[in-house]
Amino acid sequence: MQKIFIASDHGGYNLKEKIKEIFSKSGYEFEDLGTNSTESCDYPLYAEKVANKVQETNGRGILVCGTGIGMSIAANKFKGIRASHCTDTFSARMTREHNNSNILCLGERITGQDLALDIVKIWLETPFSNGERHLKRIELINKIENNL
Ligand code: RB5
Repeated sequence: MQKIFIASDHGGYNLKEKIKEIFSKSGYEFEDLGTNSTESCDYPLYAEKVANKVQETNGRGILVCGTGIGMSIAANKFKGIRASHCTDTFSARMTREHNNSNILCLGERITGQDLALDIVKIWLETPFSNGERHLKRIELINKIENNL
């Protein structure tokens, strides 16, 4: 498993720290790109940091804010990013299998901690299906992104 890039704003800081704790215990390699406290900060800046790393490494990232929505809106502005805001485990699995999601967005104020940790586990462990129809649809998204 490749290194996971993780970041949050103040609204997602506590859940980010919990995810890191689990990653450390279970041996996942990760890089924390901030924020480093619950002091108010701007979520787009953290979405940008993770999106850039995911673009550079063709890897995967996790973004946490209060709702998960701001992070997903911001992250999806970056080319090649397929950020998925998930509040349930079914969506977490489907967005890996069908959308080849490369950033998971979570809302600390929305999703309880244990559920959020299950979502993270399923999202990390589910591979992309590589199905022809899904590849075609992702290619169509790429076309939209490139104004083709
Ligand atoms: C911060 O108060 C909050 O707006 C942010 O964490 C996030 O929920 C935005 O979508």
